Amino acid sequence: MSSKPPTEKLPSIFSTQDIVLDTAYQGIDNKNWKSLFRQAREANVEQFIEDLFTGKPVNNSENRPALHSALRNLDKKPVLVNGKDVMPDVVEVWRRIEGLCNKWIGVTDVIHIGIGGSDFGPRLAIEALAHVPDIDSRGMRMHFLANIDTAELNRILQRAHPNSTRVIIVSKSFTTLETTMNARAVVKWLKDNKRNDVQISQALFAVTANVPAAQEFGVAKDNIYPFWDWVGGRYSVWSAVGLPIALQYGFDTFKEFLAGAQAIDQHFKTAPLEENLPVIMALCLLYQQKKHQIKSYAVIPYADALDWFPKWLQQLDMESNGKSVGRDGMPMKYSCPVVFGSSGSNAQHSYFQLLHQGLEIIPIDFIAIREPMSHLSEAKAHHRILLSNCLAQAQALANGKKTDNPNNTYPGKRPSNLLILPKLNAFYLGALLALYENRTATLGALWNINSFDQPGVELGKVLAKPIEAALNKGEAVEANESIDAITAQRINLFINP
Ligand code: F6P
Repeated sequence: MSSKPPTEKLPSIFSTQDIVLDTAYQGIDNKNWKSLFRQAREANVEQFIEDLFTGKPVNNSENRPALHSALRNLDKKPVLVNGKDVMPDVVEVWRRIEGLCNKWIGVTDVIHIGIGGSDFGPRLAIEALAHVPDIDSRGMRMHFLANIDTAELNRILQRAHPNSTRVIIVSKSFTTLETTMNARAVVKWLKDNKRNDVQISQALFAVTANVPAAQEFGVAKDNIYPFWDWVGGRYSVWSAVGLPIALQYGFDTFKEFLAGAQAIDQHFKTAPLEENLPVIMALCLLYQQKKHQIKSYAVIPYADALDWFPKWLQQLDMESNGKSVGRDGMPMKYSCPVVFGSSGSNAQHSYFQLLHQGLEIIPIDFIAIREPMSHLSEAKAHHRILLSNCLAQAQALANGKKTDNPNNTYPGKRPSNLLILPKLNAFYLGALLALYENRTATLGALWNINSFDQPGVELGKVLAKPIEAALNKGEAVEANESIDAITAQRINLFINP
């Protein structure tokens, strides 16, 4: 990666692939920018980026690389894991996805069963691309089943047509309880609707890094699309986990999605830190964190199409970097703030009161799209209002307003970024996601966090087992080695209301 010293007058507008980032409202002066880039160099961010893309075990706790970039390496240049090029396997899965798209005929409903990283990426992409005017779509009903709560299952089963439904079970581990239980319930529904074993076997697909478990579940080998342990769950939409994108919008659109991400990877790998969008976005957050001790930040896309984006980002950021010890096991002073958000302008009519006048300073990433997302006669006028709201909010937050009435005073000095996408299509959606993935990874490097494991999600899963057993037994429980007194009391509230 090339590296050049900071220029004298640092700009606030950066761009790549016609995506523009404007950091002017961060209030970071040249001296501070220089110091931030120095910190990035001291944290070996450049070396980290190199290690990330060359398959070094950046996931040190699990001794694995994090090579989701290989999944969007459309040039097929070799990517080595333990001396073996992984690209032939990646390309083979692309070939199979394309083949499946060509024979995906007469399907009215797809039930995509998966949770967390096996859900958010494809769900966001399907939702976002559905908003793209004139997109070529098969128009299937795409049902995303994640929650173990049968309310979601019930709603889906009421709408889907069993004779023309295909089911895709998506789980990296294929051991996730929500996913396997939901999958069993959907198979039962197919049986209850008189689908025979052959028809069920033809309707069932799996995407997993645990092929034997999928086979054991009953998915035919030819219907299993593998991915690999070097792909983290929350980074997996680029693998066959993104199958719904290809099935609904075509394989070429899926490739466009990968191409957008690949373009950002290329930028991230080669641009000097001073021009590197993911790095600059990461440094903005680091600056506000040290200056204001911020505890949260918000992402507000002024695009209805991106309403799922903040939810996808919550897993990406907080599962990756929501940790309190570093790679070396030592406690850290700074790590991931809480991230929240939803689409603007709706968000303005909700929590923006607090963003403007609350006690906490909450930095914001505003995301805007140049082009309106419909061909309606109202599109231009509505889009102007959408954009003016976006720009006005940032200005109001930054400058504030003093009045004699404290109630009507806006303190200002509330930092934000503006990210402008030229349009929203598969390419720019892929680019947006990769931009934030690389930003999250950069923040991990800056904080010295392993951004690719998630040990914090395990304890709750373990503790749920004896609790479930107690609920199943239906008899009053007392505290024991796995259930404490408060939880025992709560279990009893469910058993004897
Ligand atoms: O519990 C957290 C988690 O492991 C996430 O990291 C992952 O995205 C999700 O569960 C689903 O896991 P899987 O794809 O193995 O079913």
